[in-house]
Order: sequence, then structure tokens, then C-alpha cells
Amino acid sequence: MRIIKYFLSLTLLLIFLQTALLSAEEWEVPADKAKRTSPYLFDENARKKGEDIFKRSCASCHGIPGQGNNIKSLVPIPPDLKEAKVQKRSDGELFYMITTGRGAMPSFKNSLTEQERWQVISYIRSFNKDYVQPPLAKLVDSAKLRSVQIIPFFDTVKFKVSVLVKAFQKTDTLPLPDAEVSLFVKRYFGNLPIDSIRITPSNGKVTFNFPSNLPGDSTGNIQLIVKVNHEMFGELEKLYVAKLGVPTIKPPLTEKRAMWNVGKKAPLWLIFSYLIVVGAIWFFLVRIILSIRKIKQSGKNPKL
Ligand code: HEC
Repeated sequence: MRIIKYFLSLTLLLIFLQTALLSAEEWEVPADKAKRTSPYLFDENARKKGEDIFKRSCASCHGIPGQGNNIKSLVPIPPDLKEAKVQKRSDGELFYMITTGRGAMPSFKNSLTEQERWQVISYIRSFNKDYVQPPLAKLVDSAKLRSVQIIPFFDTVKFKVSVLVKAFQKTDTLPLPDAEVSLFVKRYFGNLPIDSIRITPSNGKVTFNFPSNLPGDSTGNIQLIVKVNHEMFGELEKLYVAKLGVPTIKPPLTEKRAMWNVGKKAPLWLIFSYLIVVGAIWFFLVRIILSIRKIKQSGKNPKL
């Protein structure tokens, strides 16, 4: 009992510490995201649309800006969005926060379109009379853009992997900026991330450093996964094979005794402890049945 109590209080303490730390942590927005500006004008029409969306999707937690009727029972408390702390943020920061969410703040990436998210920001800004909208960003005509093309280059001498991301237009393919590209090596269990995530610049091309000591198959082939994520096109994943590994003869997975192997090759200690536990349970079951029989018999035969 003491142990259970000890564990319970430890768990509670950890949960408490975690929420306390999370609420104290500044919400970091990547610099390139913070610089984004709206491609739509924050006019009366946008504000009005934003107000409808806000009342439907945000007011239940944040309250109406300036009225202080945000709910106080969440940790951290969802701020009243008229507060100076919020209004000091750039449009790009607000857009990022609404898009990704954090903790109790939900992500609106899938439930609101980009335009709707900018309209909400237009509404939030209408509570700040000092706000001046920065120059509009260029609007990409998403109807014209069809789909994404990934073109990888493998430098097996210098161990570099470059990825060129292009997007089809009606008659042309153009380099796609602002796409998030990540590289993984396919392994038995899960994928091994290589280098860090890259964002494509205007020429659409990023380069990853590849480790020179990764084991490949017997001819040095490695299976690579390239993931591309773009706000407008969603996520795309492609598998490639390249000679970027050290040729390795791998023993088949089922050769040795191991925990996750077939039953026949389970480690001996595991088989023994299993048998002992099962044996002990049966031993007690039989003892209990025998004792019950004894009690019954002694009831029938008072001399015993
Ligand atoms: C379920 C409750 C909930 C809903 C619904 C919600 N939020 Fe939030 N929001 C939060 C919480 C909680 C935080 C604080 C998150 C943190 O700091 O970790 C937050 C933080 C924010 C911030 C960051 C404020 C700052 O400067 O730190 C913005 C901006 C924001 N919300 C906007 C919105 C908008 C716009 C909507 C509607 C589209 C919305 N929220 C809907 C709970 C909510």
C-alpha cells in the first residue's frame, strides 16, 4: 500500500511539474514563419467573416477580445486576445500559433482554410487601434498548381543527398519554395531521421549531409524516404534506393534467441521464468482445491 501511495504522489508531482513548465515556456515561432504576412487585405469584409469564425471556434476558450470572459480553468489560461502580449506578436506568429496549436490550444490546420485563419487574425487586429497591416504577401493561385514532383540526387562520393521540389502548373513545372523536406533511412523498426528538416528556398533545392558509416545491404544499398510537406499541397512521401551505405551481411532477424523472435527461439531465462510462474499458479490452485475438499470431508465426518 505504501508503495502504491508513493507511486501515485510521484506521478501527480510529475504531471504538475510538466504543466507548470509548459505554461512557463515561451511559445517559439520559427523566424521564417514569424515573418509571414497575409495575402488578403484586412478590410471590413474580412473582419466580419473573421468575427463569425471567432465566435464559433475560439470564443468558447478565449472569450470576446477585451471583455476578459476567457475561461480561467485551463492551464495555461487562454489569453484574452486583446491583451498587449498577444497584439505585440506579428501576424505571422499569430498565424503559426493558430495553425499548429499547443497543449490545450487546438490546431486549426485542418479545420480552417488559410484564408479563414487570416480572417480571424483580421478580426483579432480590429481590437488594436494602433495596428497597421504590413504589405500583402503574394497570393499563389492554388487552382493552377497541380501536384508536387520530387527529384532526388545522390552523391555517393561526398555523401550528400539533394532534393529538388517542383510543382506542376498547367503547362509547366516550377521550383516550389517553402516546402518542408525531411530525409529518413528505412529501418526494421521505424525510420531513422537524417540531418535536420530543410525548407526549400526559391530555387526549390535543399541538400542534406549523409553519414558515411551507415550499414546498407550486402551491396551497400540503403532505402531512403523523402518526405515533403507544403501548406498548400499537403504531405508527400517517396521511397528511393541509393548506394550510400557500407556493404553489410546481416544475420537474418530470427537467427538468435531474442525477446521479439519466434516462440521457439525465446531466451532461455524467459522460458524458465514463464514456466516457474505458471507452475506456481497451478500449484496454488491445486492446493486450494485440495483444502476445499478437506473442509468438505471434515464437515461430513465429524470424527476427523
Ligand atoms: C479549447 C480551448 C481553445 C480554443 C477553442 C482556442 N484556443 Fe487559442 N489558446 C488556448 C490556450 C490554452 C492557449 C495558451 C497555449 C499556450 O500558451 O501553451 C491559447 C493560445 C492562443 C494564442 C497565443 C496567444 C499568445 O500570444 O501566447 C492565440 C493567438 C490563440 N490561442 C488564438 C486562437 C484562435 C484564433 C482560436 C480560434 C480559431 C483559438 N485560439 C481557439 C485555448 C484555446
